[in-house]
Amino acid sequence: MIDSMRKIKQQFSNTSVDVYLDGTFNHLSKLVDKKNAVIITDENIFSLHRSKFRNWNVITLKPGEAFKIQLTADAIIEQLIGFEADRSTTLIGVGGGVVTDLTGYVASIYMRGIRFGFVPTSLLAMVDASIGGKNGVDVGAYKNLVGSIRQPSFLLYDYSFLKTLPDIEWSNGFAEIIKHACILDHSSFKLLLNNSLQSIKKDKKLLTSIIEKNVLLKSSVVKKDEFEKGDRKLLNFGHTLGHALETQYELTHGQAVALGMVFAAWLSEQMLGLKKSVEIIQVLSQYKLPTIASFDAERVFNILTMDKKRVSDKMNFVLLEKIGKGVIHPIKLDKLEKYVSTYSNLNKVGK
Ligand code: GLY
Repeated sequence: MIDSMRKIKQQFSNTSVDVYLDGTFNHLSKLVDKKNAVIITDENIFSLHRSKFRNWNVITLKPGEAFKIQLTADAIIEQLIGFEADRSTTLIGVGGGVVTDLTGYVASIYMRGIRFGFVPTSLLAMVDASIGGKNGVDVGAYKNLVGSIRQPSFLLYDYSFLKTLPDIEWSNGFAEIIKHACILDHSSFKLLLNNSLQSIKKDKKLLTSIIEKNVLLKSSVVKKDEFEKGDRKLLNFGHTLGHALETQYELTHGQAVALGMVFAAWLSEQMLGLKKSVEIIQVLSQYKLPTIASFDAERVFNILTMDKKRVSDKMNFVLLEKIGKGVIHPIKLDKLEKYVSTYSNLNKVGK
């Protein structure tokens, strides 16, 4: 077999991350000492890829966002003590966003910080969750309320994990890919508009190039503003309303973000005169993401005000000046409340 793996280095403020693109899981044993490493994964990944984990120390979590909580972090720490993990141990998160967020979080606090790396297995983790260093857990209805920013030492991409990815997870990943295109790159947006979930899934070369483009897009934003003082906030496009919907309704992260992006596009039309927002709705539909939601405006607004992007009586909302150019726009909470209410009524009428 031809070895197509390529290594790139991403330099962050005080650390660099080795990114192995188009690699294989087997390469992991060259990056860490098996005896002094612990893999964290979930039951789904473990049962689908059991043979890969042979001879590794493995902690297996229950799958799903509901387990991205402090109780799970505590249980991981107990098991690390059982493995006699010490300051020289490397943790490896093999999984989707929940696994990578928990792994990064535990690695940041265990013995005040140990080395860690990721093998992202979902499209969403490949293009978004494993990149950027933010980690943490949810607290009640508040997503990612507790955590830190700490970069992994390495990311190892093995695209063969995508062969077992459920359909819903493809759409979840594309929600973040569409987000990157909307805020950063009009040509990526056009490419997505001219394709569909089905056409990209069938074209491995195109899929690989989209994943790798998104690794670079996300990394470039984070490298410029690792600790989210400015432009990194752009990556929250669709996430403000999205997170509030996600915690209140039975939605996947991608579905919630898609609905959040449609709201943010509508708001961009109202406030900044964005044109062609209908293309955003079109592109989301092509990747099997929802674009209309009926929701309780008061309930959702109350959760939204606890968002980390709120600064006293304003919310730093990410809007679009045009497709491919996101901007951070502070909106007074009372004004935002009216917009949320109007939008929720429009959705009810549209149903
Ligand atoms: N872990 C995802 C991020 O840092 O954005």
